[in-house]
Amino acid sequence: MNAAKTCCCQCSCRLFEFLESSIGKKVMIALAGFLLCGFLITHLAGNMFMFGGANAFNHYAEALESNPFLPLAEIGLAALFLLHIALTIRAKFANMAARPVAYEVYQGKGARTPGSSTMAATGALILAFIVIHVATLKFEVGGSKGPDLFAHVTGWFKNPLYAGFYILAVAGVGLHLSHGVQSAIQTLGVSHPRYTPMFRKLGLLFAVAISVGFASLPIYFGFFHHDMACCAAKGGAQ
Ligand code: HEM
Repeated sequence: MNAAKTCCCQCSCRLFEFLESSIGKKVMIALAGFLLCGFLITHLAGNMFMFGGANAFNHYAEALESNPFLPLAEIGLAALFLLHIALTIRAKFANMAARPVAYEVYQGKGARTPGSSTMAATGALILAFIVIHVATLKFEVGGSKGPDLFAHVTGWFKNPLYAGFYILAVAGVGLHLSHGVQSAIQTLGVSHPRYTPMFRKLGLLFAVAISVGFASLPIYFGFFHHDMACCAAKGGAQ
């Protein structure tokens, strides 16, 4: 009994030590990042119902809302976002403490990419976007949703500032993913002369597909789609 207790204690101590180590934090950041990518894929797939019109999108939204596990999934999603952000900030501070003077050596051709050198900026942009996005579309700040979510979303997209901010933010999501995905793959130990370049390309392709997919919605519904019924319903958000 005592031996089992000691063993269990040792295991949890080792797990805690691993999570506190710099590689442990990086692994957790990578895993949370992958799960967030899963959310992005399902969210984008669901949003594509908008191209099917108001009925298709509203039916999809109603089906989602009536799922009893939705609140649990929302709590899990919020926890993942917070974990990813908090661990990234902690890892950054730990790095700075370990190496107070930044290296000034040239890191070689290909060491820095637009994605890798803007991770903090794109991360902050995505955070600001999520706050505004969830406040306006979910918590109805600036205009009530009513029963027609399609009209609510397209109404907001008719505001060129709002649509423009969305396009900028999802470009930021793409830039963040362009480095994040390949860095996470590397952190999880996948390193092979033949497969690493392939994973890098797939990561880039994924980043572009997510970014273009999300951007297509504010671009189309903000600047090309004309539906009088949608706009009449959203006086405040236009
Ligand atoms: C650009 C096109 C997008 C559209 C049209 C869109 C649309 C929506 C809608 C309609 C909701 C649900 C509102 C409700 O519950 O009534 C929502 C929720 C949400 N969206 Fe988006 N979204 C987009 C992009 C994104 C992106 C790029 C992210 C992340 C970077 C994101 C993160 C979220 C989150 C975290 C929620 C809250 C989920 C929940 O708690 O249920 N969205 N979005």
